[in-house]
Parts: sequence; structure tokens; C-alpha cells
Amino acid sequence: MEITKICCIGAGYVGGPTMAVIAQKCPHLTITVVDLNQERIDAWNDENTDNIPIFEPGLSAVVAETRGKNLFFSNAVEKAIEEAQIIFISVNTPTKTYGKGKGMAADLKYIELCARQIAKVAKDNKIVVEKSTLPVRTAEAIKSILDNTGNGVQFQILSNPEFLAEGTAISDLLHPDRILIGGDQTAEGQKAIQALTDIYANWVPRDKILTTNVWSSELSKLTANAFLAQRISSINALTELCEKTGADINEVARAIGMDSRIGPKFLKASVGFGGSCFKKDILNLVYIAKSYGLNETAAYWEQVIIMNDHQKKRFADKIVKTLYNTVAGKKISFLGWAFKKNTNDTRESAAIYIADDLINEQAAVCVYDPKVNQKKILSDLDYLETRSSQENAANVQSFDNPFEACQGAHAVAVLTEWEEFAHYDWKKIYDAMQKPAFVFDGRNILNKKEMQKIGFVYHGIGS
Ligand code: UDX
Repeated sequence: MEITKICCIGAGYVGGPTMAVIAQKCPHLTITVVDLNQERIDAWNDENTDNIPIFEPGLSAVVAETRGKNLFFSNAVEKAIEEAQIIFISVNTPTKTYGKGKGMAADLKYIELCARQIAKVAKDNKIVVEKSTLPVRTAEAIKSILDNTGNGVQFQILSNPEFLAEGTAISDLLHPDRILIGGDQTAEGQKAIQALTDIYANWVPRDKILTTNVWSSELSKLTANAFLAQRISSINALTELCEKTGADINEVARAIGMDSRIGPKFLKASVGFGGSCFKKDILNLVYIAKSYGLNETAAYWEQVIIMNDHQKKRFADKIVKTLYNTVAGKKISFLGWAFKKNTNDTRESAAIYIADDLINEQAAVCVYDPKVNQKKILSDLDYLETRSSQENAANVQSFDNPFEACQGAHAVAVLTEWEEFAHYDWKKIYDAMQKPAFVFDGRNILNKKEMQKIGFVYHGIGS
């Protein structure tokens, strides 16, 4: 089968950037990214590529270069599916909020809808690629829907998990550590693997393209995220002990990170990890383990989440406790709302949970984030369903300027590690705050000694 056209279902944080890079590196292919959400597609098609719906360093330039040439964003889902030889499924797989597996299992509703839509419109053989992180054995479900169309069309299902991290998506896509492709071990399966390998080989060295079976590929993705999150929870699990005993977690991380077996990455103590993947993937892993009766395995990985929840909770508790056990009516200013720097994504961001706890204590939360607006902040809080939208709106206010956000505050809390925060005129912020002026640095990005010299009461994480 000659590959000339690719379709990607889902124009989100994975589908958009991945297809933009494939389009840039494979000018001989035509790529159409489809999504049911008209507003999102319109934003991807905005004349000014700075207005595309996802902020990622370098993305707007790649879109400007390829869009309208061999990269298209469209709502014509069925047409794009029908014409493509390869279809990527890149829709979101949130954790189930109802029924069996509620709060743990992945909700495969959207995946199933995609499979049914492909089954309905496909007239010739297709390769279907799972790009979304899915629980092990999802491919089997997709296959069973596709194989029962009765119209003689042959489908090959590949698992091709994406390992890009937000904020560095374009460089991760251009220089991946590895590409993983799982497929059937049959001759047809191997041909499909080869077709996808050939696409990546346009810019990725072949020795970095690993091929395996579908199940191993699916499980590798969950395992990679579980390991990464586990490192953060492991270092965070020692921060409280450091705070009690006078050790400094940054020093501990540096010392252990120089052991080449441990390595220095993903050892940064923080207010807790966020993002759409870590929690969801671990819950998924836990759910799968439990469903096979593997309770010790499930409990081991669940602890990574428990520790992360504790880290967020204790940050909020510490603010309340330090501010003389009450924050009622006090202005607490947040620097950062995104789950990490260089992204406008806020999913599972620690800031949401800390704001929720502080609002319960009747604090007035003021937020400045360079990429997140008031509408998003309120919808994140509303999503928790702790209180009414009106109450959330009355308790949280966002600002376009960090100095205004901090004016008159009793405390400033750093929730995201945006680099600009470290370079502010902190003396100016201090002068406009209530005294004593408290800073809770949830990312350890400020210089403790300098902050203390200005007059701040400084609290970092784990020191
Ligand atoms: C993650 C994986 O890294 C990526 O491979 C996968 O494809 C998707 O999930 P992402 O969620 O975009 O990517 O961001 P990541 O850089 O992994 O950070 C996740 C969270 O952990 C952030 O909230 C970050 O601030 C936090 N973190 C990260 C720490 O608190 N300490 C660290 O040392 C590293």
C-alpha cells in the first residue's frame, strides 16, 4: 500500500504538534487533522498562527510553514478518514467519571466512537494507529469493532505511543529518544509496522525506532509515565523529612543524581506533579493490576498518587498554618496556574487543588500566569464541583500583571516554574505587600538568601 495521505482524529496537545512535525518532515505526504470541535479547528486555521489553540515553543512556526501546503485542519471527519491510508487516533482518554472503574479506568467512549466511525466510512484497507495513551489491550477492542464491519476492508492496528512532554513538544518530536511501534506479528502486521517506520525514518535514525508487539508497546507507555512520576513522588516523599530535620532536598537530589545509575533528571522537588498523563496513566495501571487480582502491584503504584496528593495538600496546609492558622479574608497571590512552565495547559495542575483548599479557608486567591486566563482558571475550579461557579468567581481573580496580582497580598505562592518569576523586581513586590510578607516557593526557583535579605519570610519545598 502506498502511503500518500494521513488523517489524525483529534486536534489536541498530541495530535496537533505531532502532525505538524510529520508534515514538515514529509512534504510528500498530505496530512489532515480532524476534530469535531468546530471552535478548535477554527483556531488551528486562524490566519495568524500565533492564535492557534496550543501554546508550544516553535509550534506556530512549523504550522505557518506547512499549513495549507500539506497540513490541513478540518471538520470533515469522514472525508479525511475515507481518503487516508493511515489514520492516527489521538483523542483524549479521560479517567472514567461514572460506573465501573469510576475514578480509575480510562474512559474509552471517544476511542470507541472513532473506531465505529472508521468502520463506517472505510472503503479500502487502512492502518489505524493508536496515539492516545490507552490501557493495555485497547487495540483488541478497536480491532474487534473494525473486523466486524462485514465490508471486506482489512485493518491493521498499531500502537505508537507518544512520549513528548508539553512545553518541549517540538524539540521532543524532532529529536525523540525513541519511537515505539507495536503491531501484529503476522506478515500483514509487519508490513504495517514497516509503513509507519518509513514515515518516522524521514528524520529519526532507524536505530531509534523500536518495534514490538501491540501489548508490550501499550504497557511501555504506561510504565514510562509511572516511572517518571514515581521519581517525583520519591523525591517529594523526602521533602517533609528535610523540612523537619534541616537537610536540603536540593542538595540531596544533587548528591544522588550524580550516581550514574540514578541520574539527575526528574528529581526536582515540587508542590506536586500535574499534567494530563501521570495521574491518569498510573490510575489506569492500578486498575489493570487490580482487575487481574494483583493487589500488591496495584498498591505499590497507587502510592505514587497518594504521595502526590499529600504533597499538594500539605502545601496548602502550610500556608494556612504559617499565616497564624487563618487565611480568611486574606489575599494569597499565585504566580503560575499551568501545570508546568512553557505551556498553557492546566490539566491536573497543583495550583487548582491548592486554590480549592485555600478557598475552603475563605482566602481571596489572586492569580497571575503568563499564559492562562480567568476563564480557564474558573472552569478548572468549577470542574472540581466543590462549590458553585458564582462562589468560585467571587473568590478568585486573575490579573494580567504580576505586580498587580501581588499588590497588598499577605502571601505569594509560586506554583509554576515560569522563568520570568525568578527575574522579577522582588523588592518592588515586597514593598507593596502586607507585612510580614510571606513567600511559599512551590518550585524552589527563587533565591532563598536574597528573598530573606529583602525581608520576606521564605518557605521553599524541602529545605
Ligand atoms: C509527561 C511525560 O514526561 C511524557 O513523556 C509523556 O508523553 C506525557 O507525560 P508532561 O505531562 O507534558 O509529560 O510533562 P512533564 O515534564 O513530564 O512534567 C509532569 C509534571 O511533573 C509537571 O507538573 C512538572 O512540573 C512535574 N515535575 C517534573 C516535577 O515536579 N519535578 C520534576 O523533577 C519533573
